[in-house]
Amino acid sequence: MLPRRSHELPPTAGLPLRLSDLRPGAPTLAADIAAQLGTPPLQLECSGTACLLMALVTLSELQPARRRVVVPAFTCPLVAIAVQQAGLELQLCDLKPGHYDMDPAALRAACDERTLAIIPTHLAGRVADVDDAVAVARSVGAYVIEDAAQALGARRSDGTSVGLLGDIGFFSLAAGKGLSIYEGGLLLARDPLLRERLARTAARRVPRSLGWEWKRSLQLLGYATLYRPGGLGLAYGNPLRRALRRGDPVAAVGDDFPLTIPLHRVGRWRRSVGAHAAARLPAFLDQLTAQAARRLPRLRRIEGIQVMDDPSSARGTWPFFLLLLPDRVRRDAAMAQLWSSGHGVSRLFIHALPDYAYLAGAVPPQSVPRARDFAARSLSISNSPWMGDADFEAICAVLENMQA
Ligand SMILES: Cc1ncc(COP(=O)(O)O)c(C=O)c1O
Repeated sequence: MLPRRSHELPPTAGLPLRLSDLRPGAPTLAADIAAQLGTPPLQLECSGTACLLMALVTLSELQPARRRVVVPAFTCPLVAIAVQQAGLELQLCDLKPGHYDMDPAALRAACDERTLAIIPTHLAGRVADVDDAVAVARSVGAYVIEDAAQALGARRSDGTSVGLLGDIGFFSLAAGKGLSIYEGGLLLARDPLLRERLARTAARRVPRSLGWEWKRSLQLLGYATLYRPGGLGLAYGNPLRRALRRGDPVAAVGDDFPLTIPLHRVGRWRRSVGAHAAARLPAFLDQLTAQAARRLPRLRRIEGIQVMDDPSSARGTWPFFLLLLPDRVRRDAAMAQLWSSGHGVSRLFIHALPDYAYLAGAVPPQSVPRARDFAARSLSISNSPWMGDADFEAICAVLENMQA
């Protein structure tokens, strides 16, 4: 194993909160982010998953005969849980070989007049192929929901924000994301009528809850305190190492989600904290892009390693680097050296969706060999500004030795 780093690095690059962010202020988070991204008004919800649930409920009211939701087979377990909570059926789509995008032929085979929505996913800040999903959706009369949970700030080649090409999009503001209010999400829709419907769904379905808002506010205070090199060992590294010692990688990366999605309104204080921090987001994302531009060539020089990148001239965000190693054996050998050492190396999702035992009731037992291959060969490297060049070089050296 690499010698343990004295200060833990986070697996992703989140914008650290400042004491001054916690002062009361204008709760303009959603409007401020919409202005930064150049989008129509955004709807704030209590999580990215809650956004997806509002989207699914709204669309299924528009098309009640359509019950199927097509998702990439390698994605966040919360997506499957949202589909189940909406009372809809999950239909998995396998991936392109060695890629996070859905395979075009598999996507066409998965979609028909029963399909309600297709969910292309901007994984790891990368810009997904939404055009193909839109083409297939239009041909069968389905909707497109862009899952941009991991891609707040990512832009397509024409400079527009991700989330605007499909009918609905959403971003996550969960802990560790670029901008966080501990848990939160932003919903996006181009069409004003659809925006109105999404707002009506939330007004009907999402209650105020003092209990939840207190809990999230305390968690946000804890996050503001501990999301820094001196605190991450306690909040992130130690629980990770305990889970790995018990042989529970699903818990180690936090893939073990509850099967019920809490729904509640986001309070004024958390909205104002988010608004204060949001003022620093554009500069922070630029800093990450510049760091990624410096480090990508080094990663690409490592023989046998594939680094996920954007389609030409799209500009994704860089919370971390998502890599594929040549095979599971070498990926696992690299993780044995790097996972516990505090260097911000992790795995994005442990399994393809059918392989989480706890999701058996929500995920059909479909054969998705390419998603399994992606899960078996991928790892992530933090692009946190706290990672120095020496740390990054140490990680690259381990990966280089894997190829020997
Ligand atoms: C791809 C993807 N979709 C959806 C979600 C759900 O977002 P949230 O955690 O804000 O509920 C996540 C969470 O990280 C995600 O990674």
